[in-house]
Amino acid sequence: MSSSIDIFKTVDDLLQSITTNKIAYYGLLVALLVGVFKLTTFTLSFGTLLFELFIKPSVDYKVYGANSGKFAVVTGASDGIGKEFALQLAKKGFGIVLVSRTQSKLEILATEIETKYKVDTRIIAFDATTDSEENYEKLNKLIYDLPITILINNVGQSHSIPVPFLETTTKELQNIITVNNLATLKITQIVAPIIAKTVGKHDSKIKGLILTMGSFAGLIPTPYLATYSGSKAFLQEWSNALAGELASDHIDVELIISYLVTSAMSKIKRTSLAIPSAKKFVTSALSGVGTRNGAQERFATSTPYWVHALMHFGIVNTVGTYSKIANSINYKMHKDIRIRALKKQARLSNTSNSGVEKIE
Ligand SMILES: NC(=O)c1ccc[n+]([C@@H]2O[C@H](COP(=O)([O-])OP(=O)(O)OC[C@H]3O[C@@H](n4cnc5c(N)ncnc54)[C@H](OP(=O)(O)O)[C@@H]3O)[C@@H](O)[C@H]2O)c1
Repeated sequence: MSSSIDIFKTVDDLLQSITTNKIAYYGLLVALLVGVFKLTTFTLSFGTLLFELFIKPSVDYKVYGANSGKFAVVTGASDGIGKEFALQLAKKGFGIVLVSRTQSKLEILATEIETKYKVDTRIIAFDATTDSEENYEKLNKLIYDLPITILINNVGQSHSIPVPFLETTTKELQNIITVNNLATLKITQIVAPIIAKTVGKHDSKIKGLILTMGSFAGLIPTPYLATYSGSKAFLQEWSNALAGELASDHIDVELIISYLVTSAMSKIKRTSLAIPSAKKFVTSALSGVGTRNGAQERFATSTPYWVHALMHFGIVNTVGTYSKIANSINYKMHKDIRIRALKKQARLSNTSNSGVEKIE
């Protein structure tokens, strides 16, 4: 009883000192206004997230020239997410330029696309780790006179398994930066002017689109994937800067952020709520163009798959992407993945060694 009287007395004293002390009064007022402002912006951005994810209709690809003989260029097109971008854009009525490493896989995919969707395809195979000018010249020669309106910068390489930065081989880190950054930039320098020319010819009645694959590793610094993480963060800044530059050419430029998707790169075969198939992921990426979904705090960026979007929004609005806590959770997660990957490598090498012994 006496303790509740004490509390009332303390609150009463506090209110008295606030009303009599001007500094305390205005301090409280400012804190209240900041609180109301934060709550309002949070509610608005959460509301926008839900609207964009579940209610807003998908973009109509006629705006990018669908079904009118226009082309999309897709890099890393022979597998995983890139292959799905190629298939789904072909289904929407775009001719497809398939750019990737393995000629035979591209030939099979081109035949599949032409048979299924009756659109024109072109293929070009080169290994982007070589960064050879000859490859870029070949690409330019193949596409310079095509009416291209879309570029999907999807090609990417990650570490073969999570690895401490100081143990990363020079070859691996060089390949990651060359493929993810240098090749993406050089290909964009070839394709973007062609898109601008196509859009210009139509008096800007249609628009251009450049999508670039980012990653959660670029959103949150990721220990044990340090080089890959840095390469994807680089793409975030570069893509956003390009969005500003190309807006006057009527070209929409967006970075697409994704958490895990089943593919050869992720080495995950089984889908789950948080890990969609490439097909499901690309469907959400293409229908989410022009909206930010989970990336509400960013410009010209989208986290389109709904579970990834809620994860992105949740992290930004709780621990934050650059916090120590996010970093240490990520550190532990990737260290554990490395331990499991090393065990698997050891198991596989034991099995193959015993196989060799039997043959001998
Ligand atoms: N899967 C995920 O969980 C995930 C998550 C976030 C972001 N991403 C990003 O999404 C993009 C696609 O990833 P994915 O999982 O679909 O990868 P993937 O299944 O391994 O496919 C990669 C594609 O890129 C091509 N490629 C790889 N290295 C190349 C090189 N040196 N030169 C030319 N082409 C090369 C491959 O060609 P080949 O068929 O000849 O090998 C293949 O077509 C990447 O940018 C990745 O960083 C993926």
